[in-house]
Amino acid sequence: MLNIVIFGAPGSGKGTQSEYIVRKYGLHHVSTGDVLRAELKDGTELGKIAKGYMDEGKLLPDDLIVHMLASKLDGLKDSKGVIFDGFPRTIAQADALKKMLTTRGQDVSVMLNLEVPEDELMTRLIKRGRETGRTDDNEETIKNRLTVYHSQTTPVIDWYKREGKHRHIDGIGTKERIFRDICEVVDAVND
Ligand code: AP5
Ligand code: MG
Repeated sequence: MLNIVIFGAPGSGKGTQSEYIVRKYGLHHVSTGDVLRAELKDGTELGKIAKGYMDEGKLLPDDLIVHMLASKLDGLKDSKGVIFDGFPRTIAQADALKKMLTTRGQDVSVMLNLEVPEDELMTRLIKRGRETGRTDDNEETIKNRLTVYHSQTTPVIDWYKREGKHRHIDGIGTKERIFRDICEVVDAVND
């Protein structure tokens, strides 16, 4: 079983690289942001709760997200493994993921930390906002998302370093070059 956590700031390329990884390694892609946007579109209770947090660039409460993720995992069949995109984003979520996988006799294989300088993140997200209309891709909300990333999410890096699972990935350059670097790391843990 190959379970990958793809980690990084807003706009670092988690979703983009997840698509390549899914195609090459046949994993299930679980993006908490995508799940929440689908709930919002469907007008579910969870979607209504999520909207306020997402519009402000704040994280949803851990218990809600952990519950949502657990039911996603329960729904997966014939899995070669999962790529977790946008989760865990807090220490509590990292602890919860470890417990969830342990009860299934599994663990995280590797955590890929996509590192990209802040000015590049802002440029990418403003561009995407213009092109796709994603509502949290406006300057004010992006700034909030980055602040939340630094205060609540970066402690997760040390958490995975302590587990011996953290790998740095240079997230600047072509999508193809970044993917080649990712494959080297993944192939080394997937023997
Ligand atoms: P989420 O959807 O996870 O958003 P995010 O983390 O802010 O990250 P993005 O999806 O914006 O960026 P990405 O890293 O996927 O980059 P992408 O590949 O798209 O979360 C949204 C919200 O949901 C949160 O703010 C929160 O409210 C809530 N939420 C989600 N998970 C949660 C959790 N676990 N706990 C609590 N709340 C949660 O790339 C970005 C752009 O750059 C694209 O246009 C892409 O084409 C371009 N690009 C990609 N790679 C390159 C490259 N190498 N060169 C140039 N451009 C590139
Ligand atoms: Mg994404």
